[in-house]
Amino acid sequence: MREALRWARRCLVGAVESPEVEAEILLTHVLGRSRAQLYAGADDRLSAEAAERLGELVARRAGGEPLQYLTGHQVFRRLDLAVGPGVLVPRPETEMVVEHALGRIAGVASPVVVDVGTGSGAIALSVGVERPDATVWATEVSPEAAAWARRNLDRLGAGNVTIAEGDLFSPLPANLRGAVDLVVANPPYLAAAQLAGMAADVRDHEPLVATVSGPSGLEVPARVVEEALAWIRPGGWLVMETWPGQADDLLALLSARYAEAAVHPDLTGSLRIAEGQKRPSDPVR
Ligand SMILES: C[S@@+](CC[C@H](N)C(=O)[O-])C[C@H]1O[C@@H](n2cnc3c(N)ncnc32)[C@H](O)[C@@H]1O
Repeated sequence: MREALRWARRCLVGAVESPEVEAEILLTHVLGRSRAQLYAGADDRLSAEAAERLGELVARRAGGEPLQYLTGHQVFRRLDLAVGPGVLVPRPETEMVVEHALGRIAGVASPVVVDVGTGSGAIALSVGVERPDATVWATEVSPEAAAWARRNLDRLGAGNVTIAEGDLFSPLPANLRGAVDLVVANPPYLAAAQLAGMAADVRDHEPLVATVSGPSGLEVPARVVEEALAWIRPGGWLVMETWPGQADDLLALLSARYAEAAVHPDLTGSLRIAEGQKRPSDPVR
C-alpha cells in the first residue's frame, strides 16, 4: 500500500493542488477502505486488479477529471450526494448560501421554497432535509443534471422535494405564483471568456450550462432576479450565490427591484451571498 500511495502521489504532483490527499482518497476508494484501515494495512500488498484500477483513476485525475466524478460522490452539509459527468460538483461556498437562505425562512412555518438550477439537488435537498416542514421545488434545465438530482432524491427519500425539468421557473405549477417564501439559486455566472482561465476540471469536464451564463456572465442571474418576482410572496426572499467580480452588478439589479438588497461575504471574506426581499407593494405579475 505504501508504495502504491507514493506512486499515486508522484503521478499527481503538478496536476492537482493536494497530491497527497487525493492519492489517499483514490486508494481508499479503490480498496473500499477507510483512511484508518488504509494505514492499519500499510504493509499489505495491492492486488493486480486494484493496482490497475488505481492506475486508471490516477491517470484520469491527472488528466483533469474532477476527483468527485471518479469517486462518485461529494459531501454537502449533512448529505452525501452522488455526482458524475453531466452535473456540477457542489462547492463548499454554496453550503454558506444555504445557511443564509435557511435563516430567511427560520421564522416561517411550513415554508414554500424554490431552488432554481438544482444540479445534483444540493440546495433543494439540504433545505428539504434540514426543514422537513418545508415544501421544496427544484428546477433544472439540463436533463443529465436533473437525472442526478432525481438519483439523490431517491437515495435520500426526501418526500417534501419535487424536481421539475425546464427553464428557470417555467416548470413550476401556476398556483405557486406569489406564494413562494424563498427562492434560492446558484445560477451559472461566468462570462464565456472567463472559462479559459479556469482549472481543467471546471473548464474541460463540468457542464458548460452549469458554469457559463453568456457573454457577460450576468445573463442567467439577471433573469433569475427579474423572473423570481412573479413567484415570491410579498415579504419573501431571493437568495443567490454570486462571485466577487459580479457582486456590484448583481447588487445594482437587485436594488432596482427588491427591498433590503445586499451582498454578504462568506466565511473567507468573498462576496458570495446576494439577496433581496420582495416589496409588500409589488403586484404578482
Ligand atoms: C452553478 S450550477 C449549480 C448547481 C447546484 N445548485 C449547486 O449549487 O451545486 C447551475 C445549475 O443551473 C442549471 N441551469 C442553467 N441554466 C438554467 C436555466 N435556464 N433553467 C434551469 N436551470 C438552469 C445548470 O444546468 C446547473 O445545474
